[in-house]
Amino acid sequence: MINNPGNHTGSTPHHDDETRTYYDTADVDAFYDAVWGGEDIHVGIYTDEHEAIADASRRTVQQAADKVADLLGPHATVLDLGSGYGGSARALAERFGCRVVALDISEQHNRRHRAANARRGLDGLIDVVTGSLGDLPYEAERFDVVWSLEVLCHLEDRPRALSEAVRVLRPGGALVFSDIMADEKTPPEAVRPATSRLSMPALGTPSRYLDLLSGLGLKATYEDRTADIATHYARLDEEVHHRAAELREVISPAYVDELLTNLPLWTDITRRNLLRWGIFHARRPAA
Ligand SMILES: C[S@@+](CC[C@H](N)C(=O)[O-])C[C@H]1O[C@@H](n2cnc3c(N)ncnc32)[C@H](O)[C@@H]1O
Repeated sequence: MINNPGNHTGSTPHHDDETRTYYDTADVDAFYDAVWGGEDIHVGIYTDEHEAIADASRRTVQQAADKVADLLGPHATVLDLGSGYGGSARALAERFGCRVVALDISEQHNRRHRAANARRGLDGLIDVVTGSLGDLPYEAERFDVVWSLEVLCHLEDRPRALSEAVRVLRPGGALVFSDIMADEKTPPEAVRPATSRLSMPALGTPSRYLDLLSGLGLKATYEDRTADIATHYARLDEEVHHRAAELREVISPAYVDELLTNLPLWTDITRRNLLRWGIFHARRPAA
């Protein structure tokens, strides 16, 4: 059994505040809503380089869900860490009839999330909670699956956040997550000009995550999909450039200008293979 390591967060309160401020900002929220389509906010898995961002982002949820489908059904409960607008929570509840506890630090995201659940008649299955992922208010071994798409990149203390995720996972349960990472050889300063817009601390790497999971006693696999993060940022960059005039109607012109400067930096670092992206799937041994 993994003991509750006490009252802590996976990042400092100061860093949590920065992340919350970023995601609660009206311009940032309007950007994610307009460009991703109000369901998902994560890297997509693309069938071709012109595919719609929303469709590719749905595919990421489907493929991550396929990895844990054997554990999910009406009896099961998933904990979605950093649930955003709730695209994953709704997809899981609709596909498997499972319950989802969806935790996110951003009130703005949680408001949108609850409203979308109510519109889809899913509020009976999904419980949206405001809180920080490094300090989970749940008893040990409560969840069948712990799920988190592109949230750990925001945390400073990822070992503690993963340890918390594993603590609340039942024996035999699964942890599935995706993350934006750096290549093992990438110096942090090479990606900082791009990542600073999102207040991200230094990024993790695939091998670091695999070591952490193994240290927590989990059997883990990593599916590398780095080619998709290059397509994804090229698509975001293209979308914001083509739709700049329309986006200025819903996002402040100053923030659209910031995006027009920042997104090409992401396109550049992904094309130069400085980043890595993929999906981790880890199982906690049965008792
Ligand atoms: C890139 S979005 C991903 C949202 C969602 N997982 C998805 O795939 O659509 C990152 C989310 O993580 C949340 N987040 C970041 N740091 C967090 C923390 N320490 N605790 C809880 N949520 C956090 C943000 O508020 C945001 O909703």
